[in-house]
Amino acid sequence: MAEITPSRRRFVVALAFLVSGFFALARFLKPTGKSKKTLLTAAKEDIPGNGALVYKEARVAIIQESGKISAVSLVCTHLGCTVSAASKELVCPCHGSIFDWEGNVLKGPADRPLPSYRVEERDGKISVTM
Ligand code: FES
Repeated sequence: MAEITPSRRRFVVALAFLVSGFFALARFLKPTGKSKKTLLTAAKEDIPGNGALVYKEARVAIIQESGKISAVSLVCTHLGCTVSAASKELVCPCHGSIFDWEGNVLKGPADRPLPSYRVEERDGKISVTM
């Protein structure tokens, strides 16, 4: 039986570390693709016509206006308060910013629009995804 020399042992150990390091690195560098995360689903019939269905815990509003359905975040872009849905606009109770139903700023101090989410309709269900 052949004797394993110390230099051969070091080479094998170094090779094992190199291979395991490569796989560990490849795992983090591999693109994962665009995975969409479903925030919530709702029945289309629950969304008021020309109104908003508000999910306070998720801080998301599904809005239907003239048959078009959209979803916006209710996290104020000023300092993060939860925006309330009023008729035809979204109002921040903290410092008075006002947004339209598409999340655009109508009145500051917020200077950025509310983030919007993707909305998919399938079989009468509305899915809101990031
Ligand atoms: S947190 Fe909304 S206006 Fe300041």
